[in-house]
Amino acid sequence: MLKSLALTVALALGLPMAAAAQHAEAHVENYSFPYEGPFGTFDQNQLQRGLQIYTEVCAACHGLEYVSYRTLAEEGGPALPEDQMRAYAAQFEVFDESLADGEGDYRTATPADYFGQSALGNAPDLSLMAKARAGFHGPYGTGLSQLFNGMGGGEYIASILTGYHEAPECAPEDFDGYYNVAFAAGGYPDSCKDEDGHHTVPGSWIGMPPPLLGEDVTFADDHSNELHHEAVDVAAFLMWTAEPHMAARKQVGLAGVIGLTLLAVLLYLTNKRLWAPHKPKGRKEEA
Ligand code: HEC
Repeated sequence: MLKSLALTVALALGLPMAAAAQHAEAHVENYSFPYEGPFGTFDQNQLQRGLQIYTEVCAACHGLEYVSYRTLAEEGGPALPEDQMRAYAAQFEVFDESLADGEGDYRTATPADYFGQSALGNAPDLSLMAKARAGFHGPYGTGLSQLFNGMGGGEYIASILTGYHEAPECAPEDFDGYYNVAFAAGGYPDSCKDEDGHHTVPGSWIGMPPPLLGEDVTFADDHSNELHHEAVDVAAFLMWTAEPHMAARKQVGLAGVIGLTLLAVLLYLTNKRLWAPHKPKGRKEEA
């Protein structure tokens, strides 16, 4: 809280403040997304492709427990036609505790049901992941400042998915996990630190095996399924699950800014008009 206040003050004063690079050791790519900027909205086709990637690849391990099937048909989201959304839900089974005299039983999912929890215990739920992680840090500096780009949750996820590299030579061969240049929170071998304990290679070792290699899915719209396209599409989809009403929020915000600007102009003119008779002419030049 105090820290963000300090940042705001520094920003307001225009002080060139060196951004405290908390995750300087991870590399996040500044991918561009259609939802960025004050007029940005989600691209329906991209969200549909992202849904497909999530369904065919990520769902094997990750849940989306806060997202209901019904929202897939919502305007501003993937906007699946009603019958497609129903068909999508009907592919899945959910455990319903009210069935079989309270013992519970499986039944076909309906639009009101949710995607469900992660199938793999240590794979985090992805519903809110795009808002829980920041790709950009600090207000100033490179093109990756939060001031102009937002928090960068989408960039972070896409960068993780494209961030797998061959492990650097400094690491022991049997080191746990998969080397990823965008992931800062994983294990890190001592043999890759210098004498001061600083990391000598970016990123760390993540517990998720590379989920996308490129050409993992085939899109109905023939869109490219190169690795970075897939990564950006599924990241956009996860930004939508985390903030489904982002476009509406931006519109309201913009309308507010325009309204307040108009009000300020009117108040200025009114003020001038009210005081005009009381101000002797030519006074301005004297002052
Ligand atoms: C084989 C299982 C598996 C699959 C498939 C999989 N993941 Fe993961 N994922 C994991 C595990 C396990 C972790 C936790 C890794 C860790 O914390 O070291 C994880 C972590 C993550 C994280 C969180 C990174 C962080 O900052 O904590 C994201 C984002 C993510 N996965 C996205 C995806 C996406 C998107 C897909 C589909 C393209 C996918 N995963 C497919 C197992 C999987």
